[in-house]
Amino acid sequence: MEIREIYPGVYKSKNKLFTEPLINESVYGEKILKINGKTLREWLPGRSKLGAAIMKGLKEFPIKKDSLVLYLGAASGTTISHVSDIARNGMIYGVEFSPIVGRQLLSLAEKRFNLVPIISDASLPESYESLVPIVDVIFQDIAQRHQVEILVRNAKKFLKRNGYAMIAVKARSIDVASKPTMVFREVRSQLEESFEILQELRLEPWERDHAFFLLLFS
Ligand SMILES: C[S@@+](CC[C@H](N)C(=O)[O-])C[C@H]1O[C@@H](n2cnc3c(N)ncnc32)[C@H](O)[C@@H]1O
Repeated sequence: MEIREIYPGVYKSKNKLFTEPLINESVYGEKILKINGKTLREWLPGRSKLGAAIMKGLKEFPIKKDSLVLYLGAASGTTISHVSDIARNGMIYGVEFSPIVGRQLLSLAEKRFNLVPIISDASLPESYESLVPIVDVIFQDIAQRHQVEILVRNAKKFLKRNGYAMIAVKARSIDVASKPTMVFREVRSQLEESFEILQELRLEPWERDHAFFLLLFS
């Protein structure tokens, strides 16, 4: 299989994505393979909006080996585990408000030394300000009506100047009645008040009616 490193720490074959596992253990049923002498963990784009955005041609990938990342909506740890593989010398602060799914996040963080789990509400960034420093990147995937407002609140508190943000938006979570294109236009204009929009992608065929924005905070 021919594999290329498309961003530092992110590998791609013709139609598959991989990261180099920080811990040699499957997190969500994905395969760990040895390819051309390298151990790689499959990153399934159908299970991860960040993975889907990469497959759709994300033109810049702001998460580097030593990045500090604030991850809002960490759930049980699927995507954040790949972020932890990539930012292996950095630190990832994962916020999740459901204590039930958060339990898996806590056990993931026991094995991954660069993961700080925070069971809290991302709309109340002051509740975790003592745990999170100024970060290089914020990633948000919370599928909530006021998610842009929540992202902006966190960016103002934690994101460095000229830092990056990425947000996955599910049209139906914002407005069930409107067409996704109308919802995304409204989201775009809200985001433009605080960020420069570097790229907007749709996530089909992996996620229906989802948009993904790559943003610069100035
Ligand atoms: C679509 S899932 C995230 C999936 C995850 N990003 C992944 O790819 O592995 C959305 C998650 O956001 C969480 N969430 C929703 N609103 C939140 C909030 N205000 N604060 C923290 N977490 C929130 C939900 O509990 C849910 O686990």
